Amino acid sequence: GRTFFVGGNWKCNGTREEVKKIVSTLNAGEVPSQDVVEVVVSPPYVFLSLVKGLLRPEFHIAAQNCWVKKGGAFTGEVSAEMLVNLGIPWVILGHSERRLILNESNDACICPLIPYIFSFQFVGDKVVYALSQGLKVIACVGETLEQRESGSTMEVVAAQTKAIAERVSNWANVVLAYEPVWAIGTGKVATPAQAQEPNTERDCKEGIFVDLVEINYIEGQVACYVTQPIEKLGTLGSVQVYLDIGLSHLSLEKGGDMPSHVVHFELRKWLQANTSPEVAATTRIIYGGSVSGANCKELAAQPDVDGFLVGGASLKPEFIDIIKSAE
Ligand code: 13P
Repeated sequence: GRTFFVGGNWKCNGTREEVKKIVSTLNAGEVPSQDVVEVVVSPPYVFLSLVKGLLRPEFHIAAQNCWVKKGGAFTGEVSAEMLVNLGIPWVILGHSERRLILNESNDACICPLIPYIFSFQFVGDKVVYALSQGLKVIACVGETLEQRESGSTMEVVAAQTKAIAERVSNWANVVLAYEPVWAIGTGKVATPAQAQEPNTERDCKEGIFVDLVEINYIEGQVACYVTQPIEKLGTLGSVQVYLDIGLSHLSLEKGGDMPSHVVHFELRKWLQANTSPEVAATTRIIYGGSVSGANCKELAAQPDVDGFLVGGASLKPEFIDIIKSAE
């Protein structure tokens, strides 16, 4: 079993007073036990010690980033060793905000100052170095809207995962976070009814039908995906129609749009093929992007969604509701 994982990424937010308030709300929250849900909050560096001193012990703490190698003359950076020294067990690496705004990439990067010492593949090397120092890593991947619309979602996400996977041998301390960039902070969460795995003719014949939400994806040229039993659709009238459309578009290879949870399913398949069946079966793949108290339960019900990385809502009391969606 994969223990449900809920991470709260506070990003670059908060004052000391606000941080204390968030922590006291978390401390007072009634949540499932640690064998049901693992909770990790990620304050900005400057508040790590404060939060560590106040937070209930069954909740853990992650830094939002760390330096790629051993510390030294790197002004402004914080090393993995320092986090370990402070007793911080987790670190988030490869977040899309760092990839896109701070230019962290999968590509090899040669340090212009001291090229003979530093040549690294940023995100992958960070993951490896942090793991080597004993940190646990929340490694983030995810496509932009442009990439999604051009049909390269899986290609992008697989390349990002590969950059990590080809350097990591022990996956026990890695959580993979799929965070589509278009869903972060936009309110455009993956619709709860979106699919877990590609539809098949067999599924349709056995009476699992696509949901009305999916009609956009279908019309937009792609696949139909199994979503939920027809009973749940109530009186929505056109089931038969889009089922038919769906059956003629069954291939994921056709490109175009792809519901987020299909990505979870595909990512696990990718792990199976490129790491090992055991890693694929045990690694938690969590979802991030506009997760809220209102949408978390249905998202959590998807078999390949093993938890969340929550941004905005992790600063609010509804984070407790999101933690509870593990049950
Ligand atoms: P939001 O939940 O605010 O969309 O942010 C998601 C995220 O980036 C978590 O790392």
